[in-house]
Amino acid sequence: MSAQLPLGTALITGASSGIGEVYADRLAKRGHDLILVARNADRLAVLTERLAGATGRKVETIVADLGVAADRRRVESRLRDDQSIALLINNAGVLASGPLASANADDVEAMLDVNVTALTRLAAAAAAAFVQRGSGAIVNLSSVMSMLDTPNTAAYGATKAYVLSLTHSLHLELAPRGVQVQAVLPGYTRTPMIQDGEGLPPELVMEVDDLVDAALAGLDQKELITIPSQHKLDSYQQVFQARADLVSHLVGNKPAARYNATSSAAA
Ligand SMILES: NC(=O)c1ccc[n+]([C@@H]2O[C@H](COP(=O)([O-])OP(=O)(O)OC[C@H]3O[C@@H](n4cnc5c(N)ncnc54)[C@H](OP(=O)(O)O)[C@@H]3O)[C@@H](O)[C@H]2O)c1
Repeated sequence: MSAQLPLGTALITGASSGIGEVYADRLAKRGHDLILVARNADRLAVLTERLAGATGRKVETIVADLGVAADRRRVESRLRDDQSIALLINNAGVLASGPLASANADDVEAMLDVNVTALTRLAAAAAAAFVQRGSGAIVNLSSVMSMLDTPNTAAYGATKAYVLSLTHSLHLELAPRGVQVQAVLPGYTRTPMIQDGEGLPPELVMEVDDLVDAALAGLDQKELITIPSQHKLDSYQQVFQARADLVSHLVGNKPAARYNATSSAAA
């Protein structure tokens, strides 16, 4: 039986919809007070009233566009200054799809602002506060696309690979300081981001309730990486073992023989 986190306030980004909305529901029911962050004030207000009424928890909203630097800083300040916050769910995300060659570069940059810049800045603010207290947890929403080559969503997949890489390394920094880190890698999950799975084979689309319940079970079990749709844990662990085995071959002061300029020129 796994232990649950000590309760405190949970700050959830992207709480107005989909995965973030279900995190809000589950964490309020577990007994956390909540700070809900998103742009859509009306949806946040409805959710706040419903959750506060149903659970008696304190639920507050911060209406913020995480693509805007000033708004990001407001949320960062709250993470740094509010001693009650024990859990950050770094969930807000955007999917800009289509071939990169024909993409609108501003749309791609806006996605990077939310998926990479905001997520990193909020993780850094939470890390600074949690390290001071020697406790707390940061959950970063990545995707199974972080491990796949993804034509037509190349930049999106790359943002999620960034989140996975960040989480791995952040764990090494924060675990010795008493702070837990988790990356959650959803596959297709029935939310507005993927048009509720319309047109996809049903057997490939997970219900959002199941996704979040599994992710929270992974958090309780202190998993660093949680892939709710991954049944064969072994195959995933082998990938990371192979990656770790590469380490001793990745650095050195001489180029590999295949890059020997003399032999290439002679050939
Ligand atoms: N659904 C999937 O199949 C799937 C698969 C893998 C990973 N994920 C990841 O899971 C996370 C949640 O996705 P979802 O499926 O729940 O998507 P969703 O239903 O579209 O929800 C996205 C959330 O992010 C918020 N958001 C977007 N842009 C924002 C901005 N500029 N500032 C503040 N908040 C912003 C939205 O709120 P407002 O519009 O109100 O601002 C909304 O609450 C994302 O990181 C996504 O990449 C999803």
